[in-house]
Amino acid sequence: MAKQSFFDDYKIKKEVLGVVKKYGKLPEDFRFDSELFDLNKALGVDKTAKLLYDGKKDKRTIIDKTISAPFQEIRKFGESKEKSEIEGEKYWNNKLIYGDNLQALKYLLDNDYKEQIKLIYIDPPFATQSDFSKGEVKAYKDKLEGAEFTEFLRERLILMKELLTKDGSIYVHLDQKMGHYIKVIADEVFGKENFRNEIIWWYKDPSGQTKTFYKQKHGNIFFYSKNNKYTFNLDDVRMPYSEGTLKQAEARTKSFGRIVKVNPLGKIREDVWEISIINSQAKERTDYPTQKPEKILEVIIKASSNKNDIVLDAFVGSGTTCAVAEKLNRKWIGIDAGKLAIYTSQKRILDIENHKPFIVMNSGVYEIKDIDRQVKIDENLYKDFACDLFQVDRNKKETINGVDFSGKYGNNYVYVFRNKGKIFRQDLKKLEDKLKGKLKRVYIIISQNQDKVYTNYLKINNTEFYIHKIPYSLIVQFAIENKDSSLIINHLRKNYILKVNRGNLKNTDDENAPEIDKKALEKINKISQVKKKSDIETKFSNIAGFDFVNTFEIEISEKIKEKKDGVEIGIDKVKIGDKEGINNLSMILVDKNYNGKSFKVSDTFFAEDDIEEDEEGNKKEIKGFVKTKKINIDKKGLGKEIGVIYLDDFGNELFKEFSLK
Ligand SMILES: C[S@@+](CC[C@H](N)C(=O)[O-])C[C@H]1O[C@@H](n2cnc3c(N)ncnc32)[C@H](O)[C@@H]1O
Repeated sequence: MAKQSFFDDYKIKKEVLGVVKKYGKLPEDFRFDSELFDLNKALGVDKTAKLLYDGKKDKRTIIDKTISAPFQEIRKFGESKEKSEIEGEKYWNNKLIYGDNLQALKYLLDNDYKEQIKLIYIDPPFATQSDFSKGEVKAYKDKLEGAEFTEFLRERLILMKELLTKDGSIYVHLDQKMGHYIKVIADEVFGKENFRNEIIWWYKDPSGQTKTFYKQKHGNIFFYSKNNKYTFNLDDVRMPYSEGTLKQAEARTKSFGRIVKVNPLGKIREDVWEISIINSQAKERTDYPTQKPEKILEVIIKASSNKNDIVLDAFVGSGTTCAVAEKLNRKWIGIDAGKLAIYTSQKRILDIENHKPFIVMNSGVYEIKDIDRQVKIDENLYKDFACDLFQVDRNKKETINGVDFSGKYGNNYVYVFRNKGKIFRQDLKKLEDKLKGKLKRVYIIISQNQDKVYTNYLKINNTEFYIHKIPYSLIVQFAIENKDSSLIINHLRKNYILKVNRGNLKNTDDENAPEIDKKALEKINKISQVKKKSDIETKFSNIAGFDFVNTFEIEISEKIKEKKDGVEIGIDKVKIGDKEGINNLSMILVDKNYNGKSFKVSDTFFAEDDIEEDEEGNKKEIKGFVKTKKINIDKKGLGKEIGVIYLDDFGNELFKEFSLK
């Protein structure tokens, strides 16, 4: 196709035909030398070296075809009164977004964030997982993951470039394994002429014993600006002069009889930064693996942004970028596909005194503000819709002690709230008063925007309430369409899940596309969580689609033992959907001094065993709770209430609160 248009466009067809007619073939110079046949030039392809690999997509396809996963507000810390400069946003709120960054970035791009972000820092996982497999399989996997990882990052870099302001910059933090491939890719995306530095982060630490090669003690950070004019605050990040330089200046001043000046702010910063890794006692330490020192971000943020600029980190991990941006009075957006990352970052910001308001959001559903007052929803239709959404059996409607249940999920009754205003714990108490302990377990459905219960599990007297929330956007969609609920659900699935053209899913822009493969759907619409700590370093999620926030699925019973040295939670029974067993959980997060409102993770427990290296390079095995069937919370900092979040493989959460004696 390309050749065809080349000949058409350049009007040389005739000339070439003439030559061929006359000589019977093309003369050698025409074939090899002539400008005429510089196809690349004619097609506007430049001659810079490029990285070629299987699966490399066209840039336009990435920008145009990536689906955007709108944000849904999950919780808010503080009320912002600061006007937003983003069109369509009234007040500015710093944002912590849970979801795959590709579709979250696309959403930002589609929603007035184009050219709004001054600085981006990313520190993606390094995709070195295959190092652990052996032989040929490893070689093959390495290649595969090499290409897959490169494209994974390239797609994101392309979107990030669109988000950068004209005078913006990006810093891409990598290591020796993938760094050089990504440098070539980043040159392609941002232009070689905009490459500013390869910063070497040099860290001295004694760990890691090697015998046959040198110890690796540096990271690589590639710094690109979007254009040739960009924010760079040279004076804000100067470095101290060496003693030698200062002495020399002093000596020269004496011998020349005139003052040899040194800049009082220090010398111009160089591209090798010696910054120590976070030691076990450091105040900033969060225990999140791969956490980077705040000092690195401090330099980057000071150099490449000004107060009130927006700083983005799309692989936010423990929230280093957001925490430093917060302290330096920048606006920030952090994205991560791991629930642990979101909770760790949330705690980190909450711990900053006088932090600005921020919102935690899920990327996977969308929100239209203030619409609930404008729409009227037929009560019965709404209830049917809610039941269908969560696969409740509507044929099993029942009235018990004056409470109208809309159906059953498994063996338990489901109550759908359809109040006008917010729904509080008090409302559940009223239900319990009527039921008088007649039912042991009740499932509740409320709409996300009415939620003042702030939990998805609550035990009142002897009744356990499992609370499930319908994403607000779905209700709005429902209200707008207000027709057969199955049509709406199909519509949502089509629009938010199936636009992704991958694997055995068909692109359902085509109305006649066959039914969806349910198994594939399960895989696609949930982000799977890591099960062991060491996976955080290496695993990258690449998920696109629509995610339901809470489902009915998790049921857990536990035994709490208060001991001299803390609390032991023994996990008795785990049931997630129809799967039984503790191995369906990925992580348990604990806030050992829960204030009843904002969850601040203090302890994290992983499902699977892992090997951890201490600062001296000694290895020790950490037992996962799948084997031990219990977790131990030590007494340091233990309060009267503890909050526990159980996460399943897909990031569904069950929150429980326990009071200690
Ligand atoms: C190396 S860590 C970042 C550490 C961070 N710089 C810090 O100081 O804590 C990489 C993070 O990328 C996240 N991640 C991997 N794939 C992702 C994706 N597709 N979207 C969003 N986050 C992703 C992982 O969950 C992990 O937290």
